[in-house]
Amino acid sequence: MSVTVTTEGAIAVVTIDNPPVNAASHAVRQGLIDAFEQTQADGAIRAVVLICAGRTFVAGADVREFGKPPLEPHLPDVVVTLESATKPWIAAIHGTALGGGLEIAMGCHYRIADTSAKFGLPEVNLGLIPGAGGTVRLPRLVGPGIALDMIAKGKPITAAAAHAGGLLDDVVDADLRGAALKFATEKVDLPLPVPASAKPLPAFDQQSLSRDMAQIRSKSRGQNSPVAACEALTNVIKMTSADALAAERDLFLTLKQDPQSLALRHIFFAERAAGKIPAIADVAPPSLNSVGVIGGGTMGAGIAVACLLSGLSVTMIERDADALSAGEKRVIDILAGSLKRGLISKDKHAALLSAFVGATDYATLGDADLVIEAVFESMDIKRIVFEALDQATKPDAVLASNTSYLDIGEIAKSVRDPARVIGLHFFSPAHIMKLLELVIPDGASPHAIAMGAALGKRLRKITVPSGVCDGFIGNRIMSAYRRACDYMIEDGALPTEVDAAMRDFGFPIGIFEMQDLAGNDISWAMRKRQAATRDPAQRYVDIADKLCEMGRFGRKTGSGWYRYEDGKGHVDPEVTALILSESARKGITRRAFTTDEIMTTILDVMYTVGTQILDEGIAAQASDIDVVMVNGYGFPRWRGGPMFLKA
Ligand code: NAI
Repeated sequence: MSVTVTTEGAIAVVTIDNPPVNAASHAVRQGLIDAFEQTQADGAIRAVVLICAGRTFVAGADVREFGKPPLEPHLPDVVVTLESATKPWIAAIHGTALGGGLEIAMGCHYRIADTSAKFGLPEVNLGLIPGAGGTVRLPRLVGPGIALDMIAKGKPITAAAAHAGGLLDDVVDADLRGAALKFATEKVDLPLPVPASAKPLPAFDQQSLSRDMAQIRSKSRGQNSPVAACEALTNVIKMTSADALAAERDLFLTLKQDPQSLALRHIFFAERAAGKIPAIADVAPPSLNSVGVIGGGTMGAGIAVACLLSGLSVTMIERDADALSAGEKRVIDILAGSLKRGLISKDKHAALLSAFVGATDYATLGDADLVIEAVFESMDIKRIVFEALDQATKPDAVLASNTSYLDIGEIAKSVRDPARVIGLHFFSPAHIMKLLELVIPDGASPHAIAMGAALGKRLRKITVPSGVCDGFIGNRIMSAYRRACDYMIEDGALPTEVDAAMRDFGFPIGIFEMQDLAGNDISWAMRKRQAATRDPAQRYVDIADKLCEMGRFGRKTGSGWYRYEDGKGHVDPEVTALILSESARKGITRRAFTTDEIMTTILDVMYTVGTQILDEGIAAQASDIDVVMVNGYGFPRWRGGPMFLKA
């Protein structure tokens, strides 16, 4: 039974037990209606406590039911039914009351919660708005300002904030059930409070609300659900509660059919499917306490911080004392920033620093369960590092490379037991970006693969397995479409047109702006290394090399594809002249490109290379490619990824 009713004297305790997260599935909805009828009919019952078993209150709708025809009772009707109770209902909340869970809680007359509970309406992340009265009840409890923030941004709030805002009647440290029973007992003789949907809206600042809405609309970059959230909130202000509820339902049902919501739900499931790697289904997660990081540059420092924040102890190795102090400083600075912004407490900051050791001697890695190499992108240097690791580490330690492009199978040959070598490709900044490509060379041991997966889980990353090829899943696709963009600018487009097309499509930044941000010198160095082995039959565009020869490395030098002034990029006639002269030098008659043509070209390349990656078995499933492009390369989440879009 998903919902059971027991009694404690005159108080009924309605318990939802639908593991793992008590989703508001059909059985739960029906169970709540049954519990309502039973408690209404029983004259001995004077109040009802609604509580959940397991680790959380109802954490949302049952997303598995999304694709299916909806079954009655629908959640909005369940919430309306609870509101109509003639006995007080008290929601007792622990864990996360999200989406439909919070809507159920708002159908109750009172809400009390555990101090660690969280509250949110994250539907916007699935391309939706709340559909069971959330947009109507929440602003009546906390005011339209907080409600807008929660509904349009989908971010949860803490119990303390919910209490201060008016969503909760009480917060307790311990014994939630006992506290809820006591609370219920105190309420039985009081008049029944007005249900949330009938409460007047608290006073609010219309000007600041309008400003917030304008900001949300402009930041949504083509995504419909945040805009719909603003519309729902506007309705709440202008309409009666009943009309606003009906309007919310219409908006919800429209969004449910919207391709954007289908795309967001695709990515939601794709991210959950990505981490399940069949090769290690039966392998117990290896023990992981101590990590070695080789190289304290941009990536090494970020990886070290990510590991520290997840409670791992980290030893960082650099090539000499100066490089080590620079690497240590990077880590210390990032942690100091986290402390300053209140992301970690003083105690935690001190604990993290004490879990961090720097060294230049590989012998300090004797205890490491996993070592991640992030030195310069050079096969020769990586080989030397792995030979040293082979000597210094315990035999079952897993050795990983963060290389962007190099052949992990080749790197693995530097150690006596190549089966313990994998790739762990992080994205910059490594302590922030969610994606981790777990690169699995032929012959990698299940233990090594499981270690990579365990690290991803520990770091709360989205781990996508990839086979070995030049650039793995993401960089291989990115290199291919960057090349296509180079062709387009040589054929007649301008960087600003390509970047604008990508932004219009929903990317946060275009490919040329991105190169200026990352530094053009890095890919230039790589191209120079590869010059000798380049396929002479393949078209080669020299413009980026020539920009670097002019010292235009990007933002850091004040100019690259653009000229930077006041922190902003401007079209630079010098670059335009260079592009035109390169086209002329190659005898190309330049022609105009439309925004559509630019995006179609980019998406076609992504899809074509994605299909090759699938055919070669580099990616396990098409949805993995979407997960990589969305989480590592700025592909707009609400478009679902290049493979979904074309499917
Ligand atoms: P970086 O140049 O910022 O850092 C490299 C660090 O390695 C330097 O601090 C250097 O002193 C150290 N190092 C060099 N040789 C060493 C040795 N023998 N022993 C110990 N330390 C040594 O480079 P970055 O950007 O951090 O890249 C590192 C690796 O990560 C490369 O393989 C790169 O392709 C890859 N990567 C880079 C990304 C990025 O966005 N920068 C993203 C993903 C991967």
